[in-house]
Amino acid sequence: MRTFTEQTATDVVLDRLASCRDARVKQLLTSIITHLHAIVREVEPTEAEWFAAIEFLTSTGQMCDDRRQEYILLSDTLGVSMLVDAINHRKPRGATESTVLGPFHVDGAPPLEMGADLSKDGKGEPLWVSGRVLDRDGRPIAGARLDVWQTSSDGFYDIQDRTQPEMNLRGVFTTGPDGRFFFRSIEPTSYSIPTDGPVGRMLTAMGRHAMRPAHIHFIVGAPGFETVTTHLFVAGDPYLDSDAVFGVKDSLIVPFVRRDDPETAAARGLRNPYYTVEYDFVLVQRLALA
Ligand code: BEZ
Ligand code: FE
Repeated sequence: MRTFTEQTATDVVLDRLASCRDARVKQLLTSIITHLHAIVREVEPTEAEWFAAIEFLTSTGQMCDDRRQEYILLSDTLGVSMLVDAINHRKPRGATESTVLGPFHVDGAPPLEMGADLSKDGKGEPLWVSGRVLDRDGRPIAGARLDVWQTSSDGFYDIQDRTQPEMNLRGVFTTGPDGRFFFRSIEPTSYSIPTDGPVGRMLTAMGRHAMRPAHIHFIVGAPGFETVTTHLFVAGDPYLDSDAVFGVKDSLIVPFVRRDDPETAAARGLRNPYYTVEYDFVLVQRLALA
């Protein structure tokens, strides 16, 4: 038996992986153990500090329920979600870039007709969203599915705010043969990610703010194409350069233009004045398996 000392600790623990049969599990745990031990050697935590770290992770877990996912928030605010995203979605030029999913996506948003309004309570400044779903050669994709969600004008998702109608500002659209989509919603606002838990305390300790620049979330997919999880960000937002979760990419910043045009507003079923945003999503064809 090898003695466990400060010097031998990592090798002694790694030796216990000798009979691990799953090569990926072995690789992951070898890396986790090696890096954890390296952190401890580097920072030499006191026992009180190590216990505080364990308490932090415990309270992160205790904060989670079916409406709150503090571990996703932790991963997002440490830039890990965006790094995993970058590694898994290396897109060719011209394809719509991906960004962080975040903890507020909900499965089962209602399917809506083109032109429908995502807002169920009529609060906020009206917005007309339109564009196309295209392949990399610019051809429209029929049957593309757009799952869309955003916050209210107060900066809260419906699942954070019980005063909002259920499924407020959420919907799923499916393109026809022209690949076009269009719908009504509200001008998005910059908002704070939740700060009433351990992640909020961590951000304060780091001297960071918790704001995200205004955006609308999309998951866009179609048969035969890779699904992209992304946002459209409002050009000019003051938080574009300091997003709390590192999600901003230049190609996803788009103008949301204020229009004073009562006739078009009425034809679209919107109050005047209103905002418009237009964007074409470009999907990458899935590689055919031989
Ligand atoms: C969001 O945009 O919904 C979000 C993303 C990451 C963390 C918190 C919220
Ligand atoms: Fe969001």
